Amino acid sequence: MEQQYDFGLIGLGVMGRNFILNVADNGFTAFGNDLDDKKVKALKEEGGDLDKVNATADLSTFVKGLSKPRKIMMLVPAGKIVDAVIESLLPHIDKGDILIDGGNSFFTDTDRREAHLKEKGIHFFGAGVSGGAKGARKGPSIMPGGSKEGYSAVRPIFEAVAAKYQGEPCVAYLGPKSAGNYVKMVHNGIEYGLMQLTSEIYDLLKKAGNFSNDELQATFSRWNEGRLQSFLVEISSKIFAREDALGEGRLVDQILDKAKQKGTGKWTSQNAMDLGIPIPSIDIAVSMREISALKEERIRADALYDRPKIKTLDKGEIEKMAEEALFFSFIMTYAQGLHQLADASNEYGYELDIAEIAKIWRAGCIIRAGLLADITEAFRADASLPNLLLSPSFIEKVKSTVGSARELVALAVKNGIPLPGLSNSLTYFDAYTSSRLPLNLIQGQRDYFGSHTYERLDREGIFHTDWED
Ligand code: 6PG
Repeated sequence: MEQQYDFGLIGLGVMGRNFILNVADNGFTAFGNDLDDKKVKALKEEGGDLDKVNATADLSTFVKGLSKPRKIMMLVPAGKIVDAVIESLLPHIDKGDILIDGGNSFFTDTDRREAHLKEKGIHFFGAGVSGGAKGARKGPSIMPGGSKEGYSAVRPIFEAVAAKYQGEPCVAYLGPKSAGNYVKMVHNGIEYGLMQLTSEIYDLLKKAGNFSNDELQATFSRWNEGRLQSFLVEISSKIFAREDALGEGRLVDQILDKAKQKGTGKWTSQNAMDLGIPIPSIDIAVSMREISALKEERIRADALYDRPKIKTLDKGEIEKMAEEALFFSFIMTYAQGLHQLADASNEYGYELDIAEIAKIWRAGCIIRAGLLADITEAFRADASLPNLLLSPSFIEKVKSTVGSARELVALAVKNGIPLPGLSNSLTYFDAYTSSRLPLNLIQGQRDYFGSHTYERLDREGIFHTDWED
């Protein structure tokens, strides 16, 4: 009998190739499939030993080469391609086989696919994979949900390939249905927020502190040794240092300031609106990518309006405030994303354990950060914590840094430097911590023009006033 491989992977792009090589490195035999012969050949060559890792462009050969129950993971672009791959696989696979979608699929698509495949006896589940190409190769954070039975069959493989934080694998079963894809979507929303914030602080240090790329590199690298330790701060410091291979100076200064997006950040914001959960630090990060895309209009508008002349600050002073403000706004961004997860868990029946999610984000993924160890502890101490801001262990962290966030937002406003992520984070904090907001007036206005009624502070009931009386 031909060799039977432990694990199958469809989609041998960079992520797929790296993931399957990681599986093989960890002692499991793996078989890859891709329509593209070049990708098949590339994997065979890189894998070296065909008994450990092999590949084929033929789907039937691929499926026959897997031990039962078959464990097949798809790492293909989200959307129609996932449906097409599933349909092409169905004639070949059997009841009891396990099919995993490792892409950034929209969560309702995962629910639909799970229901469809359940009827056919296939254990299907979505598993978000984070960490980019290097993560897939050396240890990603994996966020599986859906079929528990399906997950238990691949658990040893996933635990072996996942990143490790102090020996613990960054993978855990997160909950039923599309829980895995949903958690990955919010992970990406947080990713958008943190990226926006780091780019704002870079802008501020450059414009209001006259930081050179070398100084930025040194500052971010120093920050990465402290409480801001995180993948995004670390790679930013390396980006500032990179010389431009095609011209003079640093590469960062030649990169076009238009940020693209594949949609997961936007989905996070759209769904937060549906749930009624405020995530302004993430919303503005999506909006800023949209504003960035309007480069030609921005150039025209720039010529039409004056900007205040920027007053520069002492480097040491601004660096200290920037570190505090970035730490503060990172906390606000995680708080909002986790708040959304807690609410979505109730709404969609995901039974999410927020501490477990923070735990598997401590290594491997794009939003990994030292802060996540504290967040894990905060939710371990109180699993029903509605918001990180209510955790006793975060009060001092926030109190000691909010002052710098205020100073920098004020400075940026006066100097015409956009800091929308930081100011939204601050506004979120000020609003969330206000026991009284002026929305009483909005209720009065709604009742005035539309008889929408209002409630009162001093007594129970629903009231309406004839305001023009
Ligand atoms: C990850 C990333 C990844 C995502 C890219 C691109 O966790 O490894 O989130 O899944 O696809 O970061 O996202 P955008 O193109 O939307 O920026």
